[in-house]
Amino acid sequence: MKHLLATDGLDPALATAVLDTADELKHTLLGREVKKLPTLRGRTVITLFYENSTRTRVSFEIAGKWMSADVINVSASSSSVNKGESLRDTALTLAAAGADCVIVRHPASGAAQRLADWLAEPGTSVVNAGDGTHEHPTQALLDAATLRERLGSLKDRRIAIVGDVLHSRVARSNIHLLAALGAEVVLVAPPTLLPYGVESLPVTVSHDLDAELPAVDAVMMLRVQAERMHGGFFPSAREYSIAYGLSERRQKLLPDHAVVLHPGPMLRGMEIASAVADSPASAITEQVRNGVHVRMAVLYHLLASEGAAA
Ligand code: CP
Repeated sequence: MKHLLATDGLDPALATAVLDTADELKHTLLGREVKKLPTLRGRTVITLFYENSTRTRVSFEIAGKWMSADVINVSASSSSVNKGESLRDTALTLAAAGADCVIVRHPASGAAQRLADWLAEPGTSVVNAGDGTHEHPTQALLDAATLRERLGSLKDRRIAIVGDVLHSRVARSNIHLLAALGAEVVLVAPPTLLPYGVESLPVTVSHDLDAELPAVDAVMMLRVQAERMHGGFFPSAREYSIAYGLSERRQKLLPDHAVVLHPGPMLRGMEIASAVADSPASAITEQVRNGVHVRMAVLYHLLASEGAAA
């Protein structure tokens, strides 16, 4: 693997190999006081974030450090981007300085692919850590890792993705990965928060959360992305919460084995009730924990495995 830019088109065998590596790394490190493997000694990983992040940036940094890579964090607000330097010049500068891998988050859909094109010559790998409303592939991989742990195989499992699908790169990456791994995906959202062309995606669509919950194996609540709603938010926050929030009453409609996911950051009380987010059915903390192992596995497949750079 040379880059990880999207789950759309990602070979299911490669996705499964990354998930298996993450699982192996998790078990290797389990109970170890010193979580350090020598695998990426001498390699340089740079995170380049033009948007805010807690989980993704920190877990990539931990993942790189646990594999002994040198990890450098660049945020747009404290770099020469603030002086007007372009994305292309910034990327070429990082490659010239010695980056083996650049992990990029950017508000523009397609930014990670552009970076990969510009860095083809220096041969630097690129990971998409979220580009606009397009994709967030490592989030989908860590969600799949968490679902595999809780449910076993994802084949024929029914997963509901609920809420602001229109603006969600997490939803888009999950739709493609879950479908590739054999799951059935149902999108549950108001018509105003579904993307144009939704009928071409491998999903079914519903507007009735109560009707869907009894038949799902997992429910993935989405963050409402107010920062991308330039034309206002319809329905209102209150209407949204009543129709699409995962309340304690709604949780009772789920089968006993069903898993509750949220990529974070959560708007408690609006997208999901605190009692549900903190319940035994919730795998939200496990998602964060698995994010480290999945990102270690991604770095391994990009920089260290036999298939790296293929
Ligand atoms: N899920 C996710 O991408 O979280 P951050 O924005 O905190 O990285």
